[in-house]
Amino acid sequence: MHTFETAAELHAQVRAWKLQGLRVGFVPTMGNLHAGHFALIDLAKTRADRVVASVFVNPTQFGPNEDFARYPRTLAADAEGLATHGCDALFAPSVDQMYPYGAGREVTVRVPGITTILDGAHRPGHFDGVATVVARLFNMVQPDVAVFGRKDYQQLQVISYLVRDLAFPIEIVGAPTTRASDGLALSSRNQYLSEAERAIAPEIYRTLFGMRVAIRSRQPLDAIEASATQRLEKAGFQVDYAAILRADLGTPDPGEHDRLVGLVAARLGTTRLIDNMALD
Ligand code: PAJ
Repeated sequence: MHTFETAAELHAQVRAWKLQGLRVGFVPTMGNLHAGHFALIDLAKTRADRVVASVFVNPTQFGPNEDFARYPRTLAADAEGLATHGCDALFAPSVDQMYPYGAGREVTVRVPGITTILDGAHRPGHFDGVATVVARLFNMVQPDVAVFGRKDYQQLQVISYLVRDLAFPIEIVGAPTTRASDGLALSSRNQYLSEAERAIAPEIYRTLFGMRVAIRSRQPLDAIEASATQRLEKAGFQVDYAAILRADLGTPDPGEHDRLVGLVAARLGTTRLIDNMALD
């Protein structure tokens, strides 16, 4: 597996593959790869003949008081893991490559509506940064298909909207969430947790599961949200949201119980965790 640092070199490789009639898959990441990321590579390999992964810790999607500086950077180990999983190319651009005018002077892609709720409300500007970097990465890699995790459910919706509205000729595939045996969704941020916090963290998964059970027994949606929040707070979380929305992130009618998704963002100390579950 070759590592490319410039878009021009990567593009030459991708063009050569396409001239051979090969279908190119793409998995964008911020690195510090774990089994959840590698499952995306495995899925991409079933959808494409060649797979490109990117590792870029994108400064424009972090807020001023967020963890950009301490976000774990482990490129050598990431490259080794990607090669083991049969990834064909790694794109690891510098900030200058990604933002030639400088981070802060980039053309911004803004998806309306769904970016102002949930994480968009708690992390202002976050999804502008995500949409902008993903649009740039799509132009640099020019894949036929790209795989994103459903773990970041709202992000997947934002990317789908972006691709449809800007007419990117790219198929977007959502991958199931990879979890630890106790239910905690794998995340690069889990390593910030102390031992005591790590023991509490799977309560998010159990709470989402409880929301699913409550939906089946047709409890009112606002009551389910309130008791989920209470349950998480009792376990020691500070809850940003515990919400029930339509699969497209629209607001359900009070009596609506089909095709819903439960979404949670909650903090343990300084670590912010998100997770979600289909509730039907
Ligand atoms: P990152 O957090 O590194 O995640 C990269 C991809 O891996 C995303 O599509 C995410 O949903 C997926 N992923 C992470 N943990 C997962 C898990 N436990 N199960 C399944 N998939 C999982 O998301 C980003 O980076 C960035 O916002 C990015 C899209 C790369 C733009 O900078």
